[in-house]
Amino acid sequence: MSASEIAFVAGATGYTGRNVVKELRARGVRTVAHVRRESKEFERWRRAFTELGAEIDSTPWGSGAIEARLAELRPTKVFALLGTTWARARREAMAATGAKPSYATVDVALTTELVRATKLVPVAPRFVCLSSIGTRPGTRNPYRETRWRIETAVREALADWTIVRPSYITGPDREERRVGETVGAAVGDRVLAVLGAFGATHWRERYRSITGPDLARALVRLAFDDTARGRVIHAEELR
Ligand SMILES: NC(=O)c1ccc[n+]([C@@H]2O[C@H](COP(=O)([O-])OP(=O)(O)OC[C@H]3O[C@@H](n4cnc5c(N)ncnc54)[C@H](OP(=O)(O)O)[C@@H]3O)[C@@H](O)[C@H]2O)c1
Repeated sequence: MSASEIAFVAGATGYTGRNVVKELRARGVRTVAHVRRESKEFERWRRAFTELGAEIDSTPWGSGAIEARLAELRPTKVFALLGTTWARARREAMAATGAKPSYATVDVALTTELVRATKLVPVAPRFVCLSSIGTRPGTRNPYRETRWRIETAVREALADWTIVRPSYITGPDREERRVGETVGAAVGDRVLAVLGAFGATHWRERYRSITGPDLARALVRLAFDDTARGRVIHAEELR
């Protein structure tokens, strides 16, 4: 990897993000892990990422500071791995005093802020945006509609992007308990294994779940792949 590469990881504390930081550092890339000050486990991640040789950045969202920070840092790769879940947003909304967490205030607002900041970097970095399977215009599913809005913002604003649409992201190393996703992935993977045995390998590869480490390897590989520029990558290309 070239010594001039700088990766900025937004959502670094998440299941995908922490694996992306690890993967980037394993490849010797200068990595700036964004961890917000209010993050529940700020100290844990500050220590863990520092041990990996990553730099911690806690520039606050929502104040224009992220734009200034990226303009100064000049990253060559930006990873957008942020998001809330319906259950988490509902939980956190009870305690929130300012803007209530939701797909709109987290997924859309923060990722589009990151898009605006990326646009100000003098040499366009590759923007790797983690979206989701099933994202399409006109969907009635609120989560996928959110993803479509984000994808549209990325495509319209940036010159160099890669959008990735995995199915369930789960694995034994995901610490947070997500019953719906875990059961959905386990049942789905079994059904898909059977379908695959009967020849439906395309469906199996597109819809089966992926672990954080496997996804991180694919995201980092794609970030450095010229042929992935301006492409939507489906799950079967992540294996
Ligand atoms: N999980 C799946 O099966 C799946 C499938 C397809 C696509 N996706 C999408 O992929 C992305 C990453 O998924 P993941 O499972 O790795 O996510 P995750 O583990 O839930 O991590 C989410 C990240 O977003 C940050 N975040 C959440 N609320 C925030 C807020 N109010 N302000 C600032 N940052 C906030 C978290 O930071 P803190 O630690 O500071 O809270 C964390 O770094 C998400 O956008 C998700 O929609 C997920």
